[in-house]
Amino acid sequence: MGLLAELFDGHVATAQGDPRSLAAVMYPIEQSYVSRATESRRREFAAGRSLARQAMASLGVPQAAIPAASDRAPVWPAGIVGSISHCSGLCVAAVARESQDCSSIGIDVEPATPLDEDLLDTICDDDELRWLARQAEPGRGLLAKAIFSAKESVYKAQYPLSRQIIGFHAVSVALDMASGSFLARFRVDAEPFLSGYQASGRIAITSEFIATSVALKNVKEKAAQRELSA
Ligand SMILES: CC(C)(COP(=O)(O)OP(=O)(O)OC[C@H]1O[C@@H](n2cnc3c(N)ncnc32)[C@H](O)[C@@H]1OP(=O)(O)O)[C@@H](O)C(=O)NCCC(=O)NCCS
Repeated sequence: MGLLAELFDGHVATAQGDPRSLAAVMYPIEQSYVSRATESRRREFAAGRSLARQAMASLGVPQAAIPAASDRAPVWPAGIVGSISHCSGLCVAAVARESQDCSSIGIDVEPATPLDEDLLDTICDDDELRWLARQAEPGRGLLAKAIFSAKESVYKAQYPLSRQIIGFHAVSVALDMASGSFLARFRVDAEPFLSGYQASGRIAITSEFIATSVALKNVKEKAAQRELSA
């Protein structure tokens, strides 16, 4: 487990592996998505599917294909939520049974290298830039990368519910490195998420990788309650 051990509560199963060495098997429908891709893309895609099935097996979920929608989002079996991420040398998958306690999940891994300074303004909003400026050097660039990763995790968790493409400034992230967690506040409406919605997530950093996760709870229930009381 290593890097992923602290990222989710027990109801979420995770798996990780190196796409370069993993013996990954794809279903024919999955193969069709990457038939014209490069060898390394085929490997990372296959690794994601295989690791997701490994995680599903540990939840007792029968093996099944995980097709990709036209927007590239994985199509999980009915009643399952999940997320996949890969970067050079690492692929991770997280899956859970959909429930009130688990509406959607997001996971992201990145190399533990500083965020390119040219990307700072694209990724970070003013609050995040001010917070970064108060952090000690060296280390700011890595924290900026953690903010980037947190936003990728939030994006992957929100997308299956909102089907909306939201930009990096749509969510503001406050990292708490002491507890290995973060709070992400929506700054836009992306139904069923309203501006002000807060999602909490976790961060793990090793010498090689940054990993972040988000598990959203009660999203549909809260939206339904809102409609009733409107
Ligand atoms: C979709 C996105 C998050 C994927 O990130 P990435 O840099 O390609 O890298 P990762 O390896 O971490 O993730 C790729 C996996 O995400 C999953 N994914 C792709 N699109 C997705 C979506 N719309 N929703 C959920 N998961 C998605 C797929 O499983 C994909 O792997 P696969 O193609 O092998 O199946 C990114 O490309 C993107 O479009 N970001 C939008 C902007 C953003 O992040 N905004 C932040 C707002 S808070």
